[in-house]
Amino acid sequence: MHIWKAAAVAAGFAGLVSAGNVRADGTVEVLHWWTSGGEAKAVGELKKAFEAEGGTWIDSPIAGGGGDAAMTALRARVVAGNPPTAVQLKGPGIQEWAKEGALNDVQDVAMKNNWDAVLPPVLANIMKYEGKYVAAPVNIHRVDWIWANPEALKAAGITAMPTTWEEFNADAEKLKAAGITPLAHGGQPWQDATLFEDVVLGVGGADFYRKALVELDQAALTSDTMVKSFDQLRKLRGYVDPNFSGRDWNLATAMVMRGEAGFQIMGDWAKGEFLAAGKVPGKDFLCAPTPGGGFVLNSDSFTFFKVKGADRIEGQKVLAGMIMSPDFQKTFNLAKGSIPARTDVPLDDFDACAKRSHADLLAAIKGNTLVPSMAHEMAVPRSVRGEFLDVVTAFFNSDMSSDDAVKQLAAAVKRAQQN
Ligand code: GAL
Repeated sequence: MHIWKAAAVAAGFAGLVSAGNVRADGTVEVLHWWTSGGEAKAVGELKKAFEAEGGTWIDSPIAGGGGDAAMTALRARVVAGNPPTAVQLKGPGIQEWAKEGALNDVQDVAMKNNWDAVLPPVLANIMKYEGKYVAAPVNIHRVDWIWANPEALKAAGITAMPTTWEEFNADAEKLKAAGITPLAHGGQPWQDATLFEDVVLGVGGADFYRKALVELDQAALTSDTMVKSFDQLRKLRGYVDPNFSGRDWNLATAMVMRGEAGFQIMGDWAKGEFLAAGKVPGKDFLCAPTPGGGFVLNSDSFTFFKVKGADRIEGQKVLAGMIMSPDFQKTFNLAKGSIPARTDVPLDDFDACAKRSHADLLAAIKGNTLVPSMAHEMAVPRSVRGEFLDVVTAFFNSDMSSDDAVKQLAAAVKRAQQN
């Protein structure tokens, strides 16, 4: 039996354990970057649930998609000796903060509620430091999605979502000819990197993605496949409108909603945006994985910083238990566009995009084509990610050749690794 399935079966009874048994008055100050329509709705569910348990919620949102501004603010707070009680954090960032000794563990909550039995091992490992849970995952976001406006596609004579990059390029040309912006995009480094990693997976496949963007293998970084990936990224650059620079991702999603643009390549938090605007999947908007196969994994989680005061520490435990309760995972993810991190939450009330995400996730685990997102801080340390973002953005905003981009990228990654 596959490991994911085994976890789900073993978890059969754990769905009965809810956060209800951790009721207590606690206080949490929560630092997050969920400020767009869909994001705010989702985090609002967490606030509501926490307050319903008698807790006090102090909201500390730091606007900025992808969380770069939030991470800068977090560093400043910790340096000042005043960390927030709970912080939206992920991937290697969790390990980095734990290594610095900045995090409280929530192992007692995890043991009591049997987290090991209900989380896919790939996620559980990310949440643990030295064998103890230091983070609670809220969701599984998929990064490699294309969102589309069916009316815009129809107007351009496109009858199906593209399944290869060649098809995508051909469709983009058709949209252009119809006077519609082919690709809604916001020129911010993390958004450029989101396009880039989806293209790398599509052009090179999962093994190549892993070698280049996770293992940072120099041969992969300098390969012809990487050159080809930049060539496709250059094509995408030709499909964005002149005002793309600096645009927030949710405003790009709104362009697709209005039919000003045909496609957006973005993780499924974009679906949260469509849903918050009352749009119906399959009718008002379409979803399809970006060409190539595989699954780019992104998961949001909360960590618990070392704070003083029984009230706050109690608040951390209540929040951790709540985040992992099956009911909360369902409500939150219906709003966020993602799927639950727990394997035992029924998806009956979720839409077709979420069901596709779940099916493809299982297939990717089985076929070893699940890869962690570099752009969304699941793959490499922040310092290395920063180098990727710099080169990819410089490429996107200049006429740099693909050969030069590859050389610069390989050198920058090497430099970051040596520091
Ligand atoms: C991602 C995060 C998502 C979504 C997105 C845009 O990194 O995992 O939850 O919020 O940024 O802000």
